Amino acid sequence: MQIISTTPELRDRLKSEPSVAFVPTMGNLHEGHVALVRQAREHGRCVVASIFVNPIQFGPSEDFNQYPRTLEADCAKLEGLADVVFAPMVDELYPESQQVFVEPPPVAAELCGAFRPGHFRGVATVVLKLFNIVQPQAAVFGKKDYQQLHVIRAMARQLNLPVEIVAGETLRAADGLALSSRNGYLSGEERAEAIRLYRNLVRMKESIVAGGGDYAALEHAAAADLEAHGWRVDYVSVRAVESLLPAKAGDAGLVVLAAGWLGHTRLIDNVEVCVSSGRSL
Ligand code: PAF
Repeated sequence: MQIISTTPELRDRLKSEPSVAFVPTMGNLHEGHVALVRQAREHGRCVVASIFVNPIQFGPSEDFNQYPRTLEADCAKLEGLADVVFAPMVDELYPESQQVFVEPPPVAAELCGAFRPGHFRGVATVVLKLFNIVQPQAAVFGKKDYQQLHVIRAMARQLNLPVEIVAGETLRAADGLALSSRNGYLSGEERAEAIRLYRNLVRMKESIVAGGGDYAALEHAAAADLEAHGWRVDYVSVRAVESLLPAKAGDAGLVVLAAGWLGHTRLIDNVEVCVSSGRSL
């Protein structure tokens, strides 16, 4: 496995590869990332993972400076799975102040976007830059960041990018908590409480599958349960998979998404729900 930090070196390394599958990350890798990198192997002869903490997707009061940089440990986890790790410095990707951005679709201003203004513009812009540098045939993104996956898919489709966007399933701890780099910020007590987010999403899914069509009531009940247990809830929302807009009667594929704070840590999660012609499957 080669570790490369500049664009010319990376382009030179990849120029004779027949196909490249790519997994962009911000490092601080866990088993969820490792699974995405394994999945990438099915989509290209050469697997490239990037490790880059992207400043333009963090708001001024967010954790950019505190975000863990663990390059050595990350590379040890990728050894034998990725062929190349692309780990540029900030100046390599942003040698001048970035003034050209990808404008994500309007739904990027909802859900997480409503609480993290500019976040998805920063994500879409860095992902397009990385796609242009790596030029992969396929790129794998986790469903854990469901709205991010939606935005990247829309960007690839609407900007005619020659890359297949592949979705990776969310990996969970034994109790169901979605693996996330931010889980490491939780105290022991918060870690025990964190599972409530997923439990509420599963309860909502079960209610919908059992025919519960009052999504607003379900959202309200879940948010109230979380808040009663010390969470600060950003949103709980039932959305249509295709558009990520608020779900309507008759939408066949739904996804229930939620985000909330436990102490200083913001957690997100989601669960897909399959319904058909008003009746639950
Ligand atoms: O999901 C992430 O880790 C980041 O948002 C991404 C896609 C690597 C862009 O910086």
